[in-house]
Amino acid sequence: MKVAVVLGTRPEIIKLAPLIRELERNNIEFFILHTGQHYSYSMDRIFFEQLELPDPRYKLDVGSGTHAVQTAKMLLGVERALVKETPDVVVVQGDTNSTLAGALAAVKLQIPVAHVEAGLRSFDVRMPEEINRTLVDHVSTLLFAPTQLSKRNLEREGITEGVYVTGNTIVDAVQRYAPLVDGAELPVDPPSEYALLTLHRQENVDNPQRLANALKGVGMVAEKLGLPVLFPAHPRTRVRMAEHGIRAPEGVMLLEPLGYFQFLKLLKGAEVVLTDSGGVQEEACTLRVPCVTLRHSTERPETVYVGANTVAGLVPEHVLEKTLEMVNKPRSWPNPLGDGKAAEKIVKILQEDVG
Ligand code: UD1
Ligand code: UDP
Repeated sequence: MKVAVVLGTRPEIIKLAPLIRELERNNIEFFILHTGQHYSYSMDRIFFEQLELPDPRYKLDVGSGTHAVQTAKMLLGVERALVKETPDVVVVQGDTNSTLAGALAAVKLQIPVAHVEAGLRSFDVRMPEEINRTLVDHVSTLLFAPTQLSKRNLEREGITEGVYVTGNTIVDAVQRYAPLVDGAELPVDPPSEYALLTLHRQENVDNPQRLANALKGVGMVAEKLGLPVLFPAHPRTRVRMAEHGIRAPEGVMLLEPLGYFQFLKLLKGAEVVLTDSGGVQEEACTLRVPCVTLRHSTERPETVYVGANTVAGLVPEHVLEKTLEMVNKPRSWPNPLGDGKAAEKIVKILQEDVG
């Protein structure tokens, strides 16, 4: 079996790392194709270094652009590489434009697609991610659903063949790397108690009113709860803040994007995390750090059902209220996202199903 692993962004690198490890451990022939959607050192290369991943065989360097331009460039490059390599299966992860391009190029060449993290749904089609993940599920041959709930989402859309519940590979990553992060050097000495913030969703940060609102709510958390907020900002968010003249409020410390070990270290030590990230909601649940989701929906409702997460929206007073509620919660929920063996299960199924 020859496996093509297509990836392009920070969360895909992190969540595919356990799978890549497992392919190596089983001596399975594979190669990595990097679309280049993320390219800054702190959004890309640092993760290959920290997670000791092999270099991509193909780097498309598509960079940033509108959805159509970015996806179209990726399709051209992925198709060219797949025609040359003729892999038996193409593995994609998640819901980014790289995920969509990898899946679409492969299925049109009649190469089976294996979708890691299948079946997640926010039911909000204004999110580019919802469009990507839904389309990818519908062209995939193997669908690795992290939970029973994601499997049920697929069933409701008529997808019942090739679906396996494996857990989410983020749990594998957290279990492997969280114990190693204590020595990681941080760009600042964190206060003894603090909140952590990430914010980058297109629907939140590209709208100046929503971005200002979200930051106002976070500023109220810093002020009223006396919790300084550390904010490693995604480059998209930095650009938008600069464009709209929006500053971080008092008590919110802007940082550069962090490496994985640095981020996990800060997450482990946080009183609470406020975020619109998918991966961060999952990591917080796994590390038993209360999470306040700065959105109106989540495609990870399992984390809410077990009490690890709350969907706060962006109204500043609600953000404050929900954060207060979460900070005081006992951190004893079970992890609904898996047992840390997702990559092992996925590779076993690939071996059985693909050969
Ligand atoms: C993408 C994904 C999103 C995912 C996120 C993970 C899509 C549609 N969106 O969003 O689902 O949650 O990645 O972080 O695929 N930039 C840099 N350096 C980089 C990458 C981006 O400076 O290495 C800046 C550029 O100004 C760029 C902007 O960030 O225009 C947005 O990048 P893009 O890849 O379009 O989307 P993300 O917001 O990163
Ligand atoms: N992350 C990181 N450094 C940071 C912020 C996040 O390493 O400064 C990691 C985080 O631990 C998680 C992943 O990036 O594993 C989440 O990616 P992101 O929020 O960009 O995308 P999403 O998960 O929302 O698609």
